[in-house]
Amino acid sequence: MINLTGKVAIVTGAARGLGFGIAEKLVNLNATVIINDIDKAGVDAAVKTLEQNDGKVFGYVCNVANEQQVNEFVDQVLTENERIDILVNNAGINRDGMLHKMTSEQWKTVLDVNLTGVFHMTQPISKIMREQNGGRIINISSASWLGNVGQANYAAAKAGVVGLTKTAARELARYDVTANAICPGFIDTDMTRGVPEKVWDMMVSKIPAGRAGKPEDVANCISFLASDQASYINGEVINVGGGMVL
Ligand code: NAI
Repeated sequence: MINLTGKVAIVTGAARGLGFGIAEKLVNLNATVIINDIDKAGVDAAVKTLEQNDGKVFGYVCNVANEQQVNEFVDQVLTENERIDILVNNAGINRDGMLHKMTSEQWKTVLDVNLTGVFHMTQPISKIMREQNGGRIINISSASWLGNVGQANYAAAKAGVVGLTKTAARELARYDVTANAICPGFIDTDMTRGVPEKVWDMMVSKIPAGRAGKPEDVANCISFLASDQASYINGEVINVGGGMVL
């Protein structure tokens, strides 16, 4: 049975979707959970929901693409909690388009959030984890890191997240800090609900499990990676996709 009592966890982009599901799971496992997001109303609503049943949860508005905002956020979390045990880099966006039509704005916006945002969060927090001799970094990549039509920017960013994760795993292992990447397949959130019904059906038809994933499918895997039981699992890229990528 996983119990995260006494652990301080950060989940980025947790006002809704996967991030919210991950935060909810960690709260249920007794961690103190700090969420951030660019959506202030969403953060307030998420905190209110997660506080029910005595959850220890705190919310901040923070854009992970903005280094100064991230540093201020991390400083504040550290001042208030004295340690950071678990970092889940979840915040992400898509701005899809075929490569021949993709604008540099589309490219840059996605890279800034999905890759540079992960660096902004991981750099100061990995320093803290080194000093405290322990920590768990879990980065949300995507099945698309292997390449996906219409997602050159997104796939490049998510492949970058894998490279960053494996480097962090090598550098931090001696400090009892692990870094792993999770690649969700096709999960039912606002990000995927926007696709036309035909595309939804086509995506689901490619999943051996016969259904889209739920945020808790991903959260269950994260709760294990965040636990003491996962101390010897490092630098892995784990698909959570009902068999979509085999
Ligand atoms: P979503 O769009 O439902 O939620 C994303 C959250 O991130 C939103 O609350 C949004 O306000 C927040 N956010 C966006 N930009 C931000 C920024 N600069 N700083 C802080 N927060 C920001 O998306 P979903 O589906 O929950 O995705 C979560 C993560 O999972 C993303 O990294 C996404 O790429 C990844 N993913 C999702 C899959 C899916 O099928 N839904 C599949 C594979 C990966």
